Amino acid sequence: MFDQSSINLDVLKKRAYNLRWATVPEGVIPLTAADPDFPSAPEIAEAIIRFTKDRYLSYGPPAGVPEFKESVARFFNQKRNVPAAPELLFPVDSAAFGIHLICKAFLNSGDEALIFDPVDFLFRYSIENVGAIAVPFCIPPGDAAVDFERMEQLISKKTKMICLCNPLNPTGKVFTKDELTRIGELAIKYDLIILSDEIWSDIVFEPHVFTSIASISEEIRQQTVTVTGYSKSYGLAGLRIGTVMASNSTHYSILFEASLHTSTIHGANVLSQVAVVAALDQCGYWLDGFVAHLQKMRDLVVNELNSINGFNCIAPEGCYVAFANITGTGKTSQEMQELIFSQANVSVVPGLKQWFGQGAEGYIRLSFATSEEILTQALGRIKHEVNSL
Ligand SMILES: Cc1ncc(COP(=O)(O)O)c(C=O)c1O
Repeated sequence: MFDQSSINLDVLKKRAYNLRWATVPEGVIPLTAADPDFPSAPEIAEAIIRFTKDRYLSYGPPAGVPEFKESVARFFNQKRNVPAAPELLFPVDSAAFGIHLICKAFLNSGDEALIFDPVDFLFRYSIENVGAIAVPFCIPPGDAAVDFERMEQLISKKTKMICLCNPLNPTGKVFTKDELTRIGELAIKYDLIILSDEIWSDIVFEPHVFTSIASISEEIRQQTVTVTGYSKSYGLAGLRIGTVMASNSTHYSILFEASLHTSTIHGANVLSQVAVVAALDQCGYWLDGFVAHLQKMRDLVVNELNSINGFNCIAPEGCYVAFANITGTGKTSQEMQELIFSQANVSVVPGLKQWFGQGAEGYIRLSFATSEEILTQALGRIKHEVNSL
């Protein structure tokens, strides 16, 4: 399922956007946006076909298709040990929009929200989009102790939210239960909303274990709003579908009202919800195979990156991205990205503030959700060019 023969580059070159195959010149390998090169599980396409057969594509319920709500609640109860209720969660048209929605619902102009540095740009973007201020908290790659005293110092009277990205894109850190407990205690002490983005929670490599912060205690759960999505685990990015889950009816009402779902101005596509039900209920075997493949690719990519002059890459604990420090080459992130693109015909994401924050300078990010052949070719070309500098 996860070898070169299952990858259809002709289709990807027509359909895979967001800095990927459809956007790069012929011959360039895009290890950019974290979107798998593998086709999604067959059960997902079958479920969509079954649903469309009778040709009724009517409006769905604003709070989500019942089967979707039940399936996602079951997932959180069984797989994440979170006492989730269908009536406290609803589908949104992507985890990206879910992050934005939580910021819109709980932040006012001038409020502050803590974000990690580095972290995916969606947090800063969403916070600033609602007129609030993103306050970066440095968490370097690797398993060095998180400086919770520093985190507490960054909390002011204006702070309303802590944005938790777990596992953390781009460094791949998987937060331990102790670390999550400390974050939860701070949220309780200062009455902060925890925005817990768990879109990467299925992509965790042994021996690391994912913990949902809402599973730790009832007090912490009451501070938490969880957002998740299905782009990373099941390759459904183009279906633009995610979930926002509250822990109480007060938070739920604020979120649902802010979503504009009742007015039909926004809402989640019914077919996308059907796809998620199939993914969660039937495609566990596919996800297991995908993660087993990714664990092998993680090892291969990290070994190769560490054999390149001036590169240093700590193995990610989760996420299918490698975040390589390139400061030993004497080049900036942007210079390295350009060199790799023009000389090695490989596209990577430079560690620029606009993508991941200030703390990403000196790094490049590579996605490894593809075949061993493609990765071997891409890394061989990068190594050849960088080592001959
Ligand atoms: C941490 C994080 N959250 C959210 C998203 C967005 O996911 P979606 O495709 O559901 O919008 C991404 C995608 O890269 C991500 O890395």
